[in-house]
Amino acid sequence: MTETTFTPRVFSGIQPSGNLHLGNYLGALKRFVDWQAKDVESIYCMVDLHAITVWQDPADLKKSTRELCAGFIAAGLDPEKSILINQSQVPEHAQLAWVFNCVARMGWMQRMTQWKDKAGKNAQNASLGLFAYPALMAADILVYHATHVPVGEDQKQHLELTRDIAIKFNHDYGVNFFPETEPVIEGAATRVMSLRDGSKKMSKSDPSDASRINLTDDADAIAKKIRKAKTDPEALPSEAKGLEERPEARNLVNIYAAMAEMSVDQVLAEVGGKQFSEFKPMLADLAVAKMSPITTEMARLMENQDEIDKILARGSERARAITAPILSQTYDIIGMVRPVEV
Ligand code: TYM
Repeated sequence: MTETTFTPRVFSGIQPSGNLHLGNYLGALKRFVDWQAKDVESIYCMVDLHAITVWQDPADLKKSTRELCAGFIAAGLDPEKSILINQSQVPEHAQLAWVFNCVARMGWMQRMTQWKDKAGKNAQNASLGLFAYPALMAADILVYHATHVPVGEDQKQHLELTRDIAIKFNHDYGVNFFPETEPVIEGAATRVMSLRDGSKKMSKSDPSDASRINLTDDADAIAKKIRKAKTDPEALPSEAKGLEERPEARNLVNIYAAMAEMSVDQVLAEVGGKQFSEFKPMLADLAVAKMSPITTEMARLMENQDEIDKILARGSERARAITAPILSQTYDIIGMVRPVEV
């Protein structure tokens, strides 16, 4: 039995497959910035290999990857403190994913709700990569021996699978090599809903642009989308239980709470009894105040793409100092002959 203690290390990723939206920002990116303040070694990844599990136009993929990196930095991630990478520059992710393809079981993958949603009725025509997606995700995390993974609620099942893969690997090879990673799903906005339908998650694949606030939207667009957001005719309640059967109202209050860094109860103590005609402008002002500086900074950073490419190259060099030894030990554990000095 190889005994290992795992020092805290944070890893998370976002797909560079289109616009970053408010759900990504509140559910993930903003929380990466909170983690950075805790001074734990952190790696944040643009998961370009995951993005190509569905078709990506090559020029758009490059642009989206750089834009995502600009978004990370504009939101407050400091490339000196946190390691910023795009997945394809750190080959150990894909190498460990292959090993995990041989650990994970078909039945585990078939149960993934994201696979069922994305492949739909046309599973025979989906890519093999889409099916194996969660094994690559487990590799992203475990190739760093990461212990904490901040994500939105929709990633919970994938993180449970990551633990299952770690447990099975450790069990099969009689080691304690991979940690059982903790998902960190916290805050008021772990599941930001569509502005047009409170029963649907805010998503970049929703055909209606009015359903989401993009990080590239200007102040007018943000205010307009909030003004038009679906609501109900009642005034806001003074307590959280008054939101239980009101998904659209609950969503807007959650968004407000996450952006203002308040609890839902604190928000309702302030706005309970107000009509949406009064609350929506408050929310729009707050959203514009929080998002506009990020949008402006992203656009400024995108003017200097060489700088972004250097940040990613430097990030991958730092990342590989962690991932290369972990992959090498993995190969050794599973019985691969390792290179010797010649
Ligand atoms: P992705 O790119 O779909 O989303 C990135 C992050 O944003 C969160 N998120 C949301 N949070 C709240 N409300 C929403 N409406 C919302 N929509 C998205 C997601 O939960 C996620 O945290 N498979 C991952 C990327 C990934 C990854 C990883 C994450 C690849 N490897 C390893 C963590 C660790 C994904 O597709 O996220």
